[in-house]
Amino acid sequence: MSGEAKRSASVLACQPEGEGLPAHVAIIMDGNGRWAAQRGLPRLEGHRRGVEAIRRAVRAAGDLGIQYLTVYSFSAENWRRPAQEVSDLMGLLKRFVRHDLADLHRNNIRVRIIGERQGLSPDIGMLLDEAEQLTRSNTGLTLVIAFNYGGRQEIVQAMRELARQVKAGTLDPEAIDMETVERALDTQGIPDPDLVIRTSGEQRISNFLTWQTAYSEFVFIPDFWPDFDEATFRAALAEYRRRDRRFGGLSARTG
Ligand code: IPE
Ligand code: IPE
Ligand code: MG
Repeated sequence: MSGEAKRSASVLACQPEGEGLPAHVAIIMDGNGRWAAQRGLPRLEGHRRGVEAIRRAVRAAGDLGIQYLTVYSFSAENWRRPAQEVSDLMGLLKRFVRHDLADLHRNNIRVRIIGERQGLSPDIGMLLDEAEQLTRSNTGLTLVIAFNYGGRQEIVQAMRELARQVKAGTLDPEAIDMETVERALDTQGIPDPDLVIRTSGEQRISNFLTWQTAYSEFVFIPDFWPDFDEATFRAALAEYRRRDRRFGGLSARTG
């Protein structure tokens, strides 16, 4: 059996009819710096190995039949890091899009970017637009890249947009409901994450998908992000499957 076929067969054996599979998995990819420090390497090396872990995660998500994968790549607060590290992270994003976009497209992956475009250099803005435009009609996995993203900032932007519509007379304040707000968020059209995974042992949300994670399940993994692989992903999915999601109601399992 080829490596590819073997992987698919083992996926099927573990996932009968994809039962209990989250439609949307969002990942806080944390621990690149500590991974590098442990090895006496520069932080940039940890970030480089982190990009390889993203490729593994995208491949695994596609194989497993997950519909949406969101990766937190750069937060609105990450500008607080030293200028050199910020510039390294911008460089890695550019390289990732330039190098991987054709592959993503070939694999029928649709790319969406969430986060604030203003404040990014024009060449990055153009690359992000290109990634979204090229893949917009693809029907496989949707890869959502959260870049220069902050959950609170996203809500503020949405509030501004709704306020503009009210001012223009096109929106009745009394008609604002949760769907109205959702349509004004960067994630419009994307279902809320069922599962949020954070690596590196930290147990916080760090301004990620503030609105959208109201009822998400959280799985915290001690491994640093560069060590994330398909086995780690499967273990997180197995943990998710053991959860009992009640959404404020009563258990579907025990009544
Ligand atoms: C995650 O790794 C990558 C980004 C936040 C961009 P970190 O760079 O946060 O690594 P640690 O948390 O310092 O180990
Ligand atoms: C969260 O990680 C942001 C990303 C993974 C892009 P951080 O490393 O920036 O989070 P804090 O500062 O430890 O909360
Ligand atoms: Mg970190």
